[in-house]
Amino acid sequence: MLPRSLPWLLSVLFAFCFLLFVSALILHFVNTDENDFDDSSDIYYSFPYDVHIFSVYYYNNSKSLGSSAISILMTADFEVLEHVKQFELLAISSSDDRKVVTTKLERVTPHDACKWITILTTCQLLPNLSQLLVSLGNEHTPIPFEVVSTSPIPVVMCISPLFASESWQNLLLALHVYKQFGAHMHLYVRSIVSPIYEILKVYETEGYLTLKSWNRIHLLNRNIEDFNPNLNVEFRNQAAAQTDCLLKYKESSDYVAFIDLDDILIPRLANNYLGEFNYFSSENPSSVYFHYSKQNTKTKAYKRANFYTVENMLRSIKFQQKTETGKMIVKPANLNSTWIHWPHKTVSFYTVPADINSITHLKTIEMVDGMGTDHEIIPKYEPNVEPDTNEPLIKEKDIKQIEMDFSRMSWKSSIRRHLRSLPNQMKYSKIIGKCFKETYYKYHEAMKESTMLCPGPERCDLTIFKTKCWNSVGEYHSTRDGKMINIHYVENSDFTLGEVCIT
Ligand SMILES: *[C@@H]1O[C@H](CO)[C@@H](O)[C@H](O)[C@H]1NC(C)=O
Ligand SMILES: *[C@@H]1O[C@H](CO)[C@@H](O)[C@H](O)[C@H]1NC(C)=O
Ligand SMILES: *[C@@H]1O[C@H](CO)[C@@H](O)[C@H](O)[C@H]1NC(C)=O
Repeated sequence: MLPRSLPWLLSVLFAFCFLLFVSALILHFVNTDENDFDDSSDIYYSFPYDVHIFSVYYYNNSKSLGSSAISILMTADFEVLEHVKQFELLAISSSDDRKVVTTKLERVTPHDACKWITILTTCQLLPNLSQLLVSLGNEHTPIPFEVVSTSPIPVVMCISPLFASESWQNLLLALHVYKQFGAHMHLYVRSIVSPIYEILKVYETEGYLTLKSWNRIHLLNRNIEDFNPNLNVEFRNQAAAQTDCLLKYKESSDYVAFIDLDDILIPRLANNYLGEFNYFSSENPSSVYFHYSKQNTKTKAYKRANFYTVENMLRSIKFQQKTETGKMIVKPANLNSTWIHWPHKTVSFYTVPADINSITHLKTIEMVDGMGTDHEIIPKYEPNVEPDTNEPLIKEKDIKQIEMDFSRMSWKSSIRRHLRSLPNQMKYSKIIGKCFKETYYKYHEAMKESTMLCPGPERCDLTIFKTKCWNSVGEYHSTRDGKMINIHYVENSDFTLGEVCIT
């Protein structure tokens, strides 16, 4: 048995390595910037700054942000925090009341390893808001906002933006497990191969998930050859996607989880997520989030959809007694923003001990030919510490109900006709794995931070494999005449069918 302090030691070690790498990168940037400024003593060199807005939410009456509140989530050069500092907003109500508010910009990304970071601002405006304008320094420009919903959805699984997504076995497993234990999936997608998209649309109609297009950034006032913001954001703006999900469900949800598609959480203390999270919450009332560790597992999945079952994949799970950095379950009423692994703001949290529960990380999925399921096998819960009960990973009753539900869905004609064309080889995963190794992990592992670039899939060339793929699209808007800032945003986000997946 491994010592109990091992996960703690590992996280300290991880945090230490991370700090090292961040500080080296900051130094790297500082040096570069000095060179840039050599021939220009003007500190306002970068005005106007380009600011890309992801979302603006309006809260009639927020438990944490107050009445008539708004949140503006954006990404921009980290210099904006120092040189722009705040936004000046003009609010106009439906009865033509007006209010001018200055609101401070807050850092969401805790480091400057990438030139563009995630930034948030929140403030209170007017009731019955009908128009919102932001000052560019010399004039105002209107920005669209969305009124957040308050209809209750107790638990939401926020899934960070997928790109070139093709592992449908994983996706179906997650959809059914989350449904079974009472969570709604909020899925961000940059690109997803056909026909997984068509199948997901049926699941969306049935209420399993919300599918949200996650757009690339286009600055219409700048030439992409001169500056490509997508190369300068960390992992497709994952921190922004997580924060967007947090803000979107701020009033409607008790808990939002930030996990990946291959992270399967199965409650052990109750029959559903809400019961388990409420238990931790009542035991640790001041905790803003719970941290579950990830336990690596391997499993098997059938390559072909006509043989694939969720049951078989669940029954084949085997723990490998290896822990990885875990994930957060947040109480959205108590937090306004988060980075990828933890919030920038120091808040109190509770670490769920792995002997009580942890995330089943589907680290290795062996794709197998053939068919059939051994209905006798009951997957064991075997983390790297002695579990506190010998209950299986998942109850027999739950496996049966999940399989019945999967079978109900897969017999729908709207799904059945697409099953034959699901990919049986994971082409993109291979290309991306290789690319990430070359552009990121190689340097991360060797600690050669100075040669490492801002991490993300933007540098990966996916065009070497052609397949029908749904890509995120939208209508782009850019102001061009700002003195302090120029504002960029996307309206009417959607998906369009192409011949290759975009990153
Ligand atoms: C907001 O609009 C509602 C309905 O139009 C109205 O009854 C209410 O008085 C308005 N509130 C304010 C503060 O203007
Ligand atoms: C917000 O308030 C407006 C006006 O009072 C109302 O029409 C709207 O339905 C409210 N929206 C939500 C989500 O409560
Ligand atoms: C969230 O924002 C509200 C309103 O600005 C503030 O009162 C609260 O302290 C913030 N919460 C956190 C955890 O920062």
